[in-house]
Amino acid sequence: MSIDDIFKRLIERSLSSAVFKDREVLRPDYIPNELPHRDEEISKISSILAPIFRGERPSNIFIYGLTGTGKTAVVKYVLIKFEEYTAKIEKPFKYSYINCRYDDTTYRVLARLADSIGIKIPFTGLSTSEVFRRIINALDGLGIPLVVILDEVDSLVKKCGDELLYRLTRINEELKRGKITILGITNDVNFIERLDPRVKSSLGEEEVIFPPYDALQLEDILSRRAVKAFKPDVLEDGVISLCASIAAKEHGDARRALELLRVAGEIAEREGKSKVSKEHVFSARMEIEKDRVAEVIKTLPLHSKLVLLSLAISGNESKTTGDTYNTYRELCRSLGIDPVTQRRVSDILSELDMVGIINAKVINRGRYGKTRLISLNADLNTLLKALKEDERIENIVKNFRSR
Ligand SMILES: Nc1ncnc2c1ncn2[C@@H]1O[C@H](COP(=O)(O)OP(=O)(O)OP(=O)(O)O)[C@@H](O)[C@H]1O
Ligand SMILES: [Mg+2]
Repeated sequence: MSIDDIFKRLIERSLSSAVFKDREVLRPDYIPNELPHRDEEISKISSILAPIFRGERPSNIFIYGLTGTGKTAVVKYVLIKFEEYTAKIEKPFKYSYINCRYDDTTYRVLARLADSIGIKIPFTGLSTSEVFRRIINALDGLGIPLVVILDEVDSLVKKCGDELLYRLTRINEELKRGKITILGITNDVNFIERLDPRVKSSLGEEEVIFPPYDALQLEDILSRRAVKAFKPDVLEDGVISLCASIAAKEHGDARRALELLRVAGEIAEREGKSKVSKEHVFSARMEIEKDRVAEVIKTLPLHSKLVLLSLAISGNESKTTGDTYNTYRELCRSLGIDPVTQRRVSDILSELDMVGIINAKVINRGRYGKTRLISLNADLNTLLKALKEDERIENIVKNFRSR
């Protein structure tokens, strides 16, 4: 076969799919044109924002709900609708969507905000108060309501404190004609409690809580999406309800359910099948879990990685904190670095338990008191592969693997 033929085939194969009609529909950032089971939240947020129709300032809103409960999708959807309807009745307003996980500094948030009202701020160089001054001038010039959406606002506060939030919630006092509404979104339960009380009360003028979806609701959401994403009759019976029930058992996360369905489809496609089966969903669950574990491990600090490696050395056996600490110390010695204290290792173990990579079970040993028995809760190969990517410990991991 000539190289041209090979390429023609490759292109054909990558363009045509036996299972997907439109895979994009299953991507996490796709905004569907219907959001079933969120009518109440949509109507609540819309009524809070309704003063926009009179050109007035709506109250600040704080939205809370676990991950994948549709907060981002609903808020974007509602604002797009507001844009459409305010255009019809000629009551202009503006909004600025900022995801604080990506724009996680005061300067970047302000630069985005400025951009949405048509002023360009250089990448660096201006003082925060100068940026504020320009924003205030521009807003007074416009004289229309501005809704600033701070999505995943906890990331910003974790990194920079709540100073910016404070100033933003106070900015209306400085404005003559303009007006700002802050709409904060988070999935962190404890976030609002950690805020300065003044910020807390003004950000939370109105609160909307997004409850998790149950299995039936997820099934409905998935079914509507699947019609657009898959070719007819590709999904075997029970595939959608299986994705829904797995996601519902965790915490009613629609993103997770959609991801399961998409990855199951991709696995079926890779295997050259024209049907997606329940087995594909189970394989998808494993694949996603492995990716998640690898992602978490990669971002751990060095000593946490060494603690994990100490656990990996004993394979599937459970160990006490003391045993783990001894192995960890040996690892540190062989690397020529100073170990942290046993107290710190014990904290590291609790952190690893919290993210679900290990299991720590407290057992009572009578007069010897209580101890924790620790075991790995992740696939050993996935774990070693992720640890090996850190060049500081690459060699010991390799040695360990060849043992
Ligand atoms: N009611 C719904 N109908 C259709 N799709 C939905 C619905 N709720 C959520 N989704 C989809 O699920 C995925 C996750 O939703 P979204 O991003 O809005 O979650 P979130 O609450 O913002 O989560 P996080 O706190 O992690 O940011 C998106 O792809 C979204 O389109
Ligand atoms: Mg979100």
